[in-house]
Amino acid sequence: MVNYKDLGLVNTREMFAKAIKGGYAIPAFNFNNMEQLQAIIQAASETKSPVILQVSKGARNYANGTLLRYMAEGAVAYAKELGWEKPEIVLHLDHGDSFETCKSCIDNGFSSVMIDGSHLSYDENVALTKKVVDYAHQFDVTVEGELGVLAGVEDEVSSEHHTYTEPNEVVDFVTKTGCDSLAISIGTSHGANKFKPEQCTKNAEGVLVPPPLAFNILEEIEKELPGFPIVLHGASSVPQDEVATINKFGGAIKDAIGIPESELRHAAESAVCKINIDSDSRLALTAAVRKALAENPAEFDPRKYLGPARENMKKLYVHKIVDVLGSAGKAE
Ligand code: G3H
Ligand code: 13P
Ligand code: ZN
Repeated sequence: MVNYKDLGLVNTREMFAKAIKGGYAIPAFNFNNMEQLQAIIQAASETKSPVILQVSKGARNYANGTLLRYMAEGAVAYAKELGWEKPEIVLHLDHGDSFETCKSCIDNGFSSVMIDGSHLSYDENVALTKKVVDYAHQFDVTVEGELGVLAGVEDEVSSEHHTYTEPNEVVDFVTKTGCDSLAISIGTSHGANKFKPEQCTKNAEGVLVPPPLAFNILEEIEKELPGFPIVLHGASSVPQDEVATINKFGGAIKDAIGIPESELRHAAESAVCKINIDSDSRLALTAAVRKALAENPAEFDPRKYLGPARENMKKLYVHKIVDVLGSAGKAE
């Protein structure tokens, strides 16, 4: 048993309370490898932003869960080395799919877990989430639950259509489970193809603008649960310059459309206090690698193409923190 407090990590409780009061959101960035983690920590340290490091089931399978945990422990020391005296770093399980996975993460130093029962029946979701909360709270680990289903693919589970969160269920869910935060479905989805072009309208510059998120549902949820931390998954904006670079250098990413950053900024000012971003980092990494390799075809030193990828991801993370989520300077 390793408690996250001994690793210098923090849970989400205080972080979320401050974010709601302050009208900003905490970035939750997924990581699967060293370069992503370095870029996240460099960005958070430079901007003094609290940050959530997210580990998905896919990341655990790819990189090994134990190794990722040790990397997160190393990240706290790295942040201090970079001059961030009191780093506020959460290690979070993203889309935990069973009690056993959540328990294993809690027992091994995670400070926060998500139990994603959104594909279960309401009663099964309540029972599973409560079981995880009862275990996690013994160790002061915070728990994110989910109500409503996002369209798109999450690991093996995929749904073609959204099922928006029912505002009239949230009080019952939070009361019965005791969860610390709630992920909701208001029109975001995972991946780089969040909307079909035919769902969008063209603005004056010819850029496709997706239909807006269901802010009316978010407002109803806030009325039901005043001051309760809300989480947005699937919140990548899919920067079109990165998509263009990927396609220019041999890629084939079609119809990639994300959530406009203005909508995320608006959400961050509300009770939404955790915003999940993974796809944008994948795009930034891929664009830089494709460019570096295309421009230097004789290169075979990974540092020469993963280095620019790390720089590009860092730039993206700083931009999200400073210009979109508003979390810069909140962990001085
Ligand atoms: O919600 C999904 C995250 O983007 C993680 O994706 O399961 O492919 O690691 P992954
Ligand atoms: P994106 O695919 O929009 O980056 O969403 C990531 C996410 O929700 C991780 O849980
Ligand atoms: Zn997600």
